[in-house]
Amino acid sequence: MQIHNIRKFFKMKPALNVSGIEKEADIKGQALHKALQSNSELSEKNLAKLAPVLINYGYNSLPSKAKVISIVNNKGGVGKTTTTAILGEAFARLGLRVLLIDLDSQGNLSHIFGIDAEVGQVADTMIDIKKTLAIQPINDYLSIVPSNLKLQEVESLLLTAASNQNRLRAALSASTIGQDYDFILIDCPPSLGLLTMNALNASNSCLITVHPEATAVVGLNSIFNVIEDVKLYGGNNLAVEGILFTMVEKNSVHDSYKEFVREEYSSFRIFESEIKKSVDVSKAQALAEQFYVYKGKSQVGIAYEDVAKEILS
Ligand SMILES: Nc1ncnc2c1ncn2[C@@H]1O[C@H](COP(=O)(O)OP(=O)(O)OP(=O)(O)O)[C@@H](O)[C@H]1O
Ligand SMILES: [Mg+2]
Repeated sequence: MQIHNIRKFFKMKPALNVSGIEKEADIKGQALHKALQSNSELSEKNLAKLAPVLINYGYNSLPSKAKVISIVNNKGGVGKTTTTAILGEAFARLGLRVLLIDLDSQGNLSHIFGIDAEVGQVADTMIDIKKTLAIQPINDYLSIVPSNLKLQEVESLLLTAASNQNRLRAALSASTIGQDYDFILIDCPPSLGLLTMNALNASNSCLITVHPEATAVVGLNSIFNVIEDVKLYGGNNLAVEGILFTMVEKNSVHDSYKEFVREEYSSFRIFESEIKKSVDVSKAQALAEQFYVYKGKSQVGIAYEDVAKEILS
């Protein structure tokens, strides 16, 4: 057991109680606390005491590769891009390394962070695997591969290209990216076309954002049919991470649509945390500021942190 892996283990499991584990492992003087918070090491003796306790909490199933999650819904304007951005920030705030991929030619995710796709974008690697992914840093833990309208041209070119549904998967596998990040979040366009298929084929799981109103809920089944197909034919064991309600308002219409979704899709996880409608979101996006920089403590910020913890639990 190495201390950097132990630090990662605790970041991946924010619900773990460090004091409780010190007690269980009979570690004195808050040595684990200190090792997690600073660069101090743990003694061989403490490591030996800690090992069986951490294994009990799942240390051996610590992933060695990034978990790739697509944020998907063929309906437009249901909070996919916002969720990709703020959930990515929330993971990064836990100290996890996150890569965001803007897979929508609208480039909204790139705009939210004020990132210019002219210098390089995801389409470059999807059309030519020899080109390295154009990763740009947002903060110490968060990076992005941007997009702009060029992605639309590339989507047309891909129509007749070989392995056209697996270009993103190939792009992610062509380098050490899997080892460099803990999470890769892909913002999908509002369609179930070629780009979304590329995202799903490159993913371990998908998160479906649902705005609980008639136009957004009707037709939700089509996503689940596509997910089922990817599971059958995609070869990547795609899981459903869960359904996340977005832009929720306190009214009977939203309540009844949420109830409908909970009943209709009861076999999937519906995130306990839901994202309320808040003007903070549009304000931060208009200023192209990171959400938590714009508003450190807000209902939406806390809710996305809770979603991150639900995913990690
Ligand atoms: N929780 C929220 N509160 C208020 N406004 C929100 C919230 N989430 C998203 N929005 C706003 O709603 C609009 C649509 O959100 P977003 O762009 O995230 O949806 P989308 O599903 O990615 O849309 P598209 O399908 O066009 O890509 C944006 O203007 C965004 O600022
Ligand atoms: Mg979007």
